[in-house]
Parts: sequence; C-alpha cells; structure tokens
Amino acid sequence: MSMIASGPVLSQPALAPRGVYNFSAGPGCLPEEVLLQAREDIWNLMGSGFGIMEHSHRGKTFDKVLAEAEADCRTIANIPANYKILFLTGGATAQNWMVPMNLLPQGGTADYVTTGYWAQKSFEHAKPFGAVREAFSSKSENFKFVPQKDSEIAYDAKAAYAHYTSNNTIMGTEFHWVPTPPKGVPLVCDMSSDIFAGPLDVTKFGLIYAGAQKNLGTAGTTVVIVHEDLAKKKVRENPEFLRYETFAANESRPNTPPTFNIYLTGQVFKWILRKGGLEPMAKFNAEKAKLIYDAVDGSGGFYKGHARPDSRSLMNITFRLPTEELDTKFISEAAKQGMVDMKGHRSTGGVRASVYNAMPRAGCVKLVDFMKEFMKKNG
Ligand SMILES: Cc1ncc(COP(=O)(O)O)c(C=O)c1O
Repeated sequence: MSMIASGPVLSQPALAPRGVYNFSAGPGCLPEEVLLQAREDIWNLMGSGFGIMEHSHRGKTFDKVLAEAEADCRTIANIPANYKILFLTGGATAQNWMVPMNLLPQGGTADYVTTGYWAQKSFEHAKPFGAVREAFSSKSENFKFVPQKDSEIAYDAKAAYAHYTSNNTIMGTEFHWVPTPPKGVPLVCDMSSDIFAGPLDVTKFGLIYAGAQKNLGTAGTTVVIVHEDLAKKKVRENPEFLRYETFAANESRPNTPPTFNIYLTGQVFKWILRKGGLEPMAKFNAEKAKLIYDAVDGSGGFYKGHARPDSRSLMNITFRLPTEELDTKFISEAAKQGMVDMKGHRSTGGVRASVYNAMPRAGCVKLVDFMKEFMKKNG
C-alpha cells in the first residue's frame, strides 16, 4: 500500500480555549480569528490542496495573497498610489540603517527625536552614515514623555529627513499628534508598536516602517510605506538588496520574501477591515487603555505610572508597585491567573501591559479586577 497520502487526510480537531491573555510587548497577541484562519490555510490555501508555507512566491496563489495584502493595507489607511507598500525582512532594526543608507547623503544631516530605547537605537545606528543630530531628547527625564508640539523640537531645515518613533514600546509613551518638520524635510517614523491603532494620514510622512510582530502579524516581515520619490532616491552606492528601489520595483520579491509572514499580515489587514477600520480601532484602544490607566490613577499611588499623563501610550501601559518584590509578585500571580508576559523590559523594570489591537476588552477588564484585588491584599 502506498505510504503517500493522496489528499487531505486529517480533519482538524476542535481547539480547546487557550485560557490566557497575552500581554506581551511583542511578538504580541493576535486576533483569534486570524489564527484560526491561518490554521486552515497552513493546511490548504484557497483550495489549492497545499498550504501557504509551501506555495511558491512566484505562483498565482501567492500573487493573490500579496496583491490582497497590499490592496487591503492601502484601503485601511487610504494610502495614495504614489506611496509604495513594501514587505521587507530584518525587523524594524534593519530600517535603522536602511533609512540613512538610502536617504542620508554623504556629508548630509538628519534629525532624530529620541524618546526611548528604540528611538535611541535608531539614532545610534544612523551615525555611520552621516551627521545625525538629536533634535529632541527626553533621556535626562528617563524618557517619561514625548514632545507635545513642534516648537519643542529643534528641527534643522537642511536635514535630509526627521525621524521619530511614534510609540515607545518600552517606556510606554506615545505621540498623539504628528510632528511637522520644516518644508522639504521628509518625516520618517518607526511605527512598529502603534501602526493602525488609529487613523493615519500617510501623506504627512515620507516613510513609515513597522515590524509586524505587534499590531500587524508575526516577526519576520517589516511593513514599509514610502513615498515613491524617496524609494527612488540614490544618495550612495548601496548593495542591491539594501535599496528600497529594488523592492519597490519587484513587488517586495526580488528574492524569496517571507511568504507566510506576508500572508499573516494580510489576514490581520482583513481583520482590521472587518472591525470597521481605523476609527473604530482607535475608539476600542482608547477604551481599553482607559480601563487600566483609571485603575492606576485610582490606586492612591499604589500603582505608579511611568509615563507623564500627556504622553501615555494606548498600547503599552507601564507602571510600578511600591517595591520590586511586589512588582515580581504581581507579575507572577497575574500569570497564574492567565494574564501572561507583563514583566517590564530589562531597562525599565516594573510592569508593562501591552494591549495591542488584538487584545480583547475582556483581557483588560480581567487585568483591572486583578489589580484591585492585588492592591487589597498587598496595599
Ligand atoms: C518601537 C520599536 N522599534 C523597533 C523595535 C525593534 O524591532 P525588531 O526586533 O523587529 O528589529 C521594536 C521592538 O520591540 C520596537 O518596539
């Protein structure tokens, strides 16, 4: 008897509920319906008889996956045709050098707004490519805040671009406005941890990048939205595969792209559209974050937020308890009750609850109940 199965032989067993809310800062939680769809499509994509991870990146089925991912991304943020949408690899970190390699001419300058760990990394990684300067830094205040208006940022009108990080994942701070650099200076943004958390006007930006593993899918692809003029810019001789133009001219697949990751990001885009898009997402996120910030503010100082209130992130909520021992106890007891991965980053300590788009409201309600209970017992 042949040992080769002649078609789908397994029927998928029903899945048990997972019983856990994942508050990880990234890779973060994903919408359950996306995961369930992926489970099907890993087995058999679009009735093709085999799964997404086995399809050629040049085949017709993947053509459709890629085209839909791009089209849905365009629809979500109303992205005009003169912006390219690229799916790259190397994480958000690779953009720390791809941006200056492609946009910063030798002898030119670029502005960096350093409001946290990753923003600082972007600044440091750009140094080998030109004269970069910090146009704003909140480092001396332990990155507790972001600027609230343009007049706080010392822009250079001759800069090749101005770079900022819209949400500081580790510090738990976020811009609730979009900076406007001087005319002619393109705005570049690391939007890794709050892209598509709310309305986005891409025409204010020259280039946006976001590692997918927080609000857009899984680690392995980075979404880059770049104005076509910048995608074509040539400021030095770069290796072919480190040029935006190479990817823009070849639908993100001059070589084998991360097909599964692009597929999954496409499924997240479809989920965002099913939820009604970015306006409802913003409302949903604001409500969820408010539940937790209210618990912090109503705790009489038992929970102390890291971020200055005007700079609070709706995605990553950072706070401390009265002692480090209590921080540890809080994190471990929460985990026992099914709320996992809330340990603050090694550079800040404390607690960090990441409540990305995919975190259900019920997860936040459960956390708030736990916070109140924990305070009663330990306060
Ligand atoms: C805002 C921000 N930028 C950059 C990074 C680095 O991303 P990657 O690990 O994809 O390089 C992170 C990761 O957490 C982040 O939160």
